[in-house]
This record gives sequence, C-alpha cells and structure tokens, in this order.
Amino acid sequence: MSTQRVWALYGESLLKHAPGSVFFLADGEEAKSLTAAEALWKSWAKAGLHRGHLVIAFGGGALLDAAGFCASTYMRGLEFWYIPSSLLAMVDAAVGGKTGLNLGTLKNYIGTFHSAQHVLICPVFLKSLGSEELLSGWGEILKHALIQGEPLWSQTARWPASEAEWSSLLAQNSSLKQQIVDSDFRESGKRKVLNAGHSVGHGLESLYRELGQSLPHGVAVAHGLAIETLVAYRMNVISREQGQAITTRIDQFFSRLSWDHSHTLRLFSLLNQDKKNDSQGWQFSLARQIGDVGYNDLVSPNTLSWALTQYLNLPG
Ligand SMILES: NC(=O)c1ccc[n+]([C@@H]2O[C@H](COP(=O)([O-])OP(=O)(O)OC[C@H]3O[C@@H](n4cnc5c(N)ncnc54)[C@H](O)[C@@H]3O)[C@@H](O)[C@H]2O)c1
Repeated sequence: MSTQRVWALYGESLLKHAPGSVFFLADGEEAKSLTAAEALWKSWAKAGLHRGHLVIAFGGGALLDAAGFCASTYMRGLEFWYIPSSLLAMVDAAVGGKTGLNLGTLKNYIGTFHSAQHVLICPVFLKSLGSEELLSGWGEILKHALIQGEPLWSQTARWPASEAEWSSLLAQNSSLKQQIVDSDFRESGKRKVLNAGHSVGHGLESLYRELGQSLPHGVAVAHGLAIETLVAYRMNVISREQGQAITTRIDQFFSRLSWDHSHTLRLFSLLNQDKKNDSQGWQFSLARQIGDVGYNDLVSPNTLSWALTQYLNLPG
C-alpha cells in the first residue's frame, strides 16, 4: 500500500525486497475518507486478499492511518506492517496503534486501536521531503520535547546537523511515544499528554481545510502548542517564564499564523466537535512546565479567546 507520489520515488527498490501486489490510496488527507476506504476494500476483495496476507503500508501519516484502519477492519483484521516515509510518520503516526479516517472535516472520527506488528523506520526517506513536510514533523518533535523535557528539549533548540543526529532524534521520539502508549494503550489517562497542542491544532487544521488552504498537521500542532501555552498561563497552570520559553521555541521555527477575527467563531464551533471533549466542555492537555504536561484540563471559551487575542496580536 502506498500513494503514487511516494511509490514513484521508492517503489521499484522496495518491490525488490518485498515482492507483492501494489495498491494505492490518494495522497494526503484524501486517503482518510470513507469513500477511499470502500474503494480499497473492494479492490482487496477483487484481488482475493484474505487473512493469510500481509499488508505493508508505505507512506506518510495519512496513508498509514487509512491503510491501518482498512487492514484492521477488513475480514476483522489482517496483519499489517508500517514503513513510514515522512518525518511526522516516523516520530509519531507509525507508533501507538491509532488508525483513523476523517468524517468530512471531523478529524479522525472513525478509527481503531490496532498496532502494526512491525514498524521499519529508515531515515533515508527524509531526503526527498520538502521543507514544509519536515517542519510538520518538527511540530510533533517539539511536542515530545515538551513532554519529556531534557535531554530532548535542549536537543531541539536547533535543527539537526547530520544524519547521525537525525537518527538519534528519530529513535528517541519513537521510543518516548511507545513508552507512553505502553502505559495506557486505549488513552484512558496518561496517554492524553500526547494530545498537547492537538485541541487547538485539530481545530486550526479543520478551519484551514474549510478555507481551502493547507495547514499540515504538525504545523497546526505547533501553533496549537503556542496557543495552548497561553491558555495555561491564563489559567495559572504555568509560569510566565516557562510559558515564554515554550512560545519562543515555537516562534523560532514557525511563523505565526494570522487570520480574520471572524474565523475565531468558526474555530470555536470546530472545537465543540473535538472528540476529546466530555460533557463538561473542552478538555485540553496543558503544559505545567517543560517536561511536565498534564491532561483533562477544562478550558472555557473566554480563556481561549484571551489566548487567541494574545497570539494574534503579540509579535512572534
Ligand atoms: N495515528 C497517529 O497516532 C497519528 C499521529 C500523528 C499524526 N497522524 C496523522 O498523520 C497525518 C499527517 O501525516 P504526514 O505529515 O506524514 O502527512 P501526509 O501523509 O499527508 O504526507 C505529507 C506529504 O508528504 C509526502 N511524502 C511522504 N513521504 C515522502 C517522502 N519520503 N518524500 C517525499 N514526499 C513524501 C506525501 O505524499 C504527502 O504529500 C494526519 O492525517 C494526522 O492525523 C496520526
């Protein structure tokens, strides 16, 4: 399983190592639709795929999420392996067993908890990624650094300068995520720290998609982290000094977004549909300090409104 874009780059050499039939999904979020999933299941059925077969998903996070979902549900589950090809997929999406499709603009509303049996991480694929795709992965790396604190926090103060630094960063990020997931696979508690930046981040991602503009997932998460840090400061959860250290780190790599104030109302409606909410309202995962992220933080619209105003008006 792959996308035409990734397969055109590496498909031939991969087939030499793992011969088999090749199936394609559309690039990016297009892969994560029910229509795309139905078409894929039908093509698998037509080709006679059964439980004795192995699905190898090779691509970015969107392809892995969709292929993992289709494999985990087809005939009640086929074995599948992941070969992540984007930075974001290597450090995040390939690990942890969350598969998913979007329901229209609602991110990851459909999905299963079902881990790939093997994940093969190979930094050589990073070479063909564009700068925006690398930055998107960097957003999730900064989130992991915020959760772990040292040594990742210091190591992410600058862009990796060599292949060895990249390899070390990939290994540390995937093992940090695996460790957290192992302690709470179905996300009833501790795993929620991995949602830092994602309440606002998913809202921003959906807002931009509605506006017909692209905001890559990890870039949206980075801005989500900055805005949620301002929320944490407003709620007295984090000190001014620690909050500024986080927003300064994000501003170092990501230019601040700007949008018309009328979009803020739409962002609030999108946040109301966040699947992390409970009956009390919006549930965020806020940083207390670098190296300490909490979860189940109830956030009011007024507090987020204050944070958005600060974010949009203060120079980054
Ligand atoms: N399951 C999880 O735990 C989890 C965690 C984080 C993110 N995600 C999901 O991952 C998705 C984002 O993943 P992404 O950032 O990889 O986006 P993506 O899959 O859309 O890939 C981004 C672009 O990079 C291209 N690409 C991938 N590898 C390439 C390579 N080696 N060379 C050149 N181009 C390449 C893709 O074709 C695509 O155009 C989102 O849907 C998000 O919800 C899932």
